[in-house]
Amino acid sequence: MKSDTKKILIIGINGFIGSHLAAELLKRRRYEVYGLDLYDFRILHLLGKDGFFFTKGDIYKNWDLLEEYISHCDVVVPLAAIAQPKLYIQEPLQVFELDFEANLKIIQAVVKHNKFLLFPSTSEVYGKVRENYFNEDTTDIVVGPINEQRWIYSTIKQLLDRLIHAYGLKEGLRYCCFRPFNWIGSGLDSIKDAQNGTSRVVTSFISMLLMKEPVKIVGDGKQSRCFTDIKDGVDCLIRIIDNSDICDKQIINIGNPYIFLSVYELALKCIETFKKSPKIPEDIKEHATYKFVSREEFYGKGYDDIFYRKPSIEKAKTLLDWKPSISIEDSLEKCIDHLFHEWKDLNGNS
Ligand code: UGA
Repeated sequence: MKSDTKKILIIGINGFIGSHLAAELLKRRRYEVYGLDLYDFRILHLLGKDGFFFTKGDIYKNWDLLEEYISHCDVVVPLAAIAQPKLYIQEPLQVFELDFEANLKIIQAVVKHNKFLLFPSTSEVYGKVRENYFNEDTTDIVVGPINEQRWIYSTIKQLLDRLIHAYGLKEGLRYCCFRPFNWIGSGLDSIKDAQNGTSRVVTSFISMLLMKEPVKIVGDGKQSRCFTDIKDGVDCLIRIIDNSDICDKQIINIGNPYIFLSVYELALKCIETFKKSPKIPEDIKEHATYKFVSREEFYGKGYDDIFYRKPSIEKAKTLLDWKPSISIEDSLEKCIDHLFHEWKDLNGNS
């Protein structure tokens, strides 16, 4: 490796975003990638690759090693977090401990060692805003009352964004906060998560179809999202890493405003793509259908939905010459493929 190779530390590297980001960075052969995670099942294919340094471990128990990694690397990407709405409601204190407390400790170590922080904020920060396009620097933030437990994640991330901003002003922290808008792709949750009701919507829908159950549309299905392929998202992240001077002290939305679907339209799209997939057996396809369920039935008490969510991506376009290019059909096909393999493994490869 050349001495000017950028060293990137990904904490939570076995997660959905971390594993895709690590694979793409290593593919481009211009980076050294350091990673820490409790698990390694999504990155097994990367172990042993040139320029990849991985430790299986815990942020708390392996803190000394983690701090050594932070002091050694140029860019720190802390991705260890709980990001499933059902868990915000079921396990709010765990969300606080991991998403807030553990990440704050990491942010403070990044400040101490004067490294560049690439921090995952979230589309959830905007909450219930009704503007046509959510803007990173001008849109107000609107969330619900305390008894709507869902908002704990949004407000934790918001406070971290504000702290990072303050560290930038007061201590010169170099950072970029990125806001993913419903990224989808292989490895976004598992079939087991879908069975527990904790997976995000695309995994949930496809898993139900594989299990010959109707997909469950929560509420009236009119709530909408912009679905963004993980490959487009990761491409933008690498542009930020390559242009960290330009992106310093910025918040950047990373989403696909051209793929704007209601949850009902998404259900129909999933069913259509599923039925067209050549790999799925006909006897599974013939059960593909949907039903409506109430919010409380699906999530329990404490859930509030977000009716509308669409990013402005003008900043990513201007600063990074980035825009998303992958179609929803291509993204869903990849998700179906991945979950079908997982489903076959669970069922003894039959
Ligand atoms: C997500 C999560 O909070 C985070 O992953 C992330 O920070 C952020 O938003 C994002 O990915 O941009 P949400 O968009 O509500 O929240 O994510 P999903 O759980 O995928 O739900 C999307 C919509 O589908 C919701 O209206 C939900 O009620 C609905 N849904 C979900 C169903 O109709 N059926 C299901 O089986 C699952």
